[in-house]
Amino acid sequence: MKTHTISILGAGYVGLTTAALLAHCGYRVFAVEPNPDRLKSIKEGKSFFYEQGLDAVIKIAIDSGNLIATDSYEESVTNSEVVFSCVGTPDNPDGSSNLSYVYGAVEESLKYMPDNSIYIQKSTVPVGTGRNVEEIIKKSGKNISYVSNPEFLRESTALFDTLYFDRVVVGGDNKDSVDTVLDIYKNLESNRDKITKISNIEQGQDDGKYISTSLNSAELTKVTANAFLALKISFANSIAVLADKVGADVNEVMDAVGSDKRIGRAFLNAGRGYGGGCFPKDVSGLISSADQFGIDLTIMKAAQDLNTSMPKYVIDKLESTVGNLSTKRVCVLGLAFKAGTSDVRKSPGIKLANLLVKNAGTVKAFDPKAMDEAKEHLSSEIKLSKSIPEAINDSDIVIIATEWKEFLSINASEFMKGNKDRVIVDAVNSLDDITLKKAGIKYIGIGR
Ligand code: UGA
Repeated sequence: MKTHTISILGAGYVGLTTAALLAHCGYRVFAVEPNPDRLKSIKEGKSFFYEQGLDAVIKIAIDSGNLIATDSYEESVTNSEVVFSCVGTPDNPDGSSNLSYVYGAVEESLKYMPDNSIYIQKSTVPVGTGRNVEEIIKKSGKNISYVSNPEFLRESTALFDTLYFDRVVVGGDNKDSVDTVLDIYKNLESNRDKITKISNIEQGQDDGKYISTSLNSAELTKVTANAFLALKISFANSIAVLADKVGADVNEVMDAVGSDKRIGRAFLNAGRGYGGGCFPKDVSGLISSADQFGIDLTIMKAAQDLNTSMPKYVIDKLESTVGNLSTKRVCVLGLAFKAGTSDVRKSPGIKLANLLVKNAGTVKAFDPKAMDEAKEHLSSEIKLSKSIPEAINDSDIVIIATEWKEFLSINASEFMKGNKDRVIVDAVNSLDDITLKKAGIKYIGIGR
């Protein structure tokens, strides 16, 4: 089937990135977003979150008329051969995935989708969800095929990851529909040079794989990938705790271990643990869906527990080095869940800052991009700083919680300005400890 018009339901990190990029590939793309503020921002040609290169791509796509932002399923879905669902799947208090938006989007789309169109699930859903959706489609009496196309982009490199994908995974029973979805990505691949120039992102490699699977395998692939990456991080953190005891440096260990091609160095950076809208949720979602099938995923439960303990471990290590913190003025640099994004969901930096309120004399916090987003999650006792010098100034202890390049480029004399005894806690293990220590800084890493 030839695709002319595409609807993307939900204009979050995944949906908006996908919509903006596909609008540069000759398709007419509807970005369907119910939130009025987000919608307004997209219509004005900009994203409502920070993501490198995205605004440039959105602006051109909106101005050209190829990207249409709307809150109407009727306007968008009625005219689309292909519908991508990218709605949110927040976690329930018990750790399972809340699928109300997923099913809501299906029900609403079915009112308008024409026969012979394709419904593509990009939202991260527990394995088995697709089969349930297929039942709903069947009951509607419409001839619509359902395909799972999990997303692997990372926030902060969303454009790069989508354009220079390692793999596109498409799962479903209908081979023609699977091929139609694969063709959309092949078209995206053929437009990548043009979009790379527009967005001014780095050029990647041409080695992405196209993989077609069964529906259940595609669904399970997504959560398995995130769970394995989370496992790698927790594994590195457990070795960091041991390294602290035995006097080894976890960075050295992981550099050496990761140079084994079977293991790889990626996602073995120890520190304050993982956060974000995906790993914590997908790990608990996988544990919960395994539970439903009578499988006890103890390995993931251990990874989750270890991760939850890491912010407290950072504070414990600091206390064991400098003593009681009750008279200390501490600042936390980095409130986004990682560098390159303004997203603060399950941010370890915010957890650290809030935990410190109980132990430290005073707590200040700063982030180059996420101050607005962080505000509402921070204890009212935390003072918000406007710049790095303002945060560091008057602080006895500086904790680096996010690897923003602005923080990694602070040099020893800036760290020591006004207080040569200032303690630096590198909770992302990304500073040059040797240079800092040589300059006389009291440096504390995690597992270093
Ligand atoms: C993650 C996956 O990497 C993507 O492939 C996936 O598409 C996405 O979830 C999703 O499911 O939507 P993301 O959450 O954007 O992407 O961020 P990551 O770069 O994976 O980082 C997650 C967390 O792990 C961050 O807090 C980061 O600081 C932490 N991390 C990462 C470590 O603590 N150590 C590492 O070695 C790597």
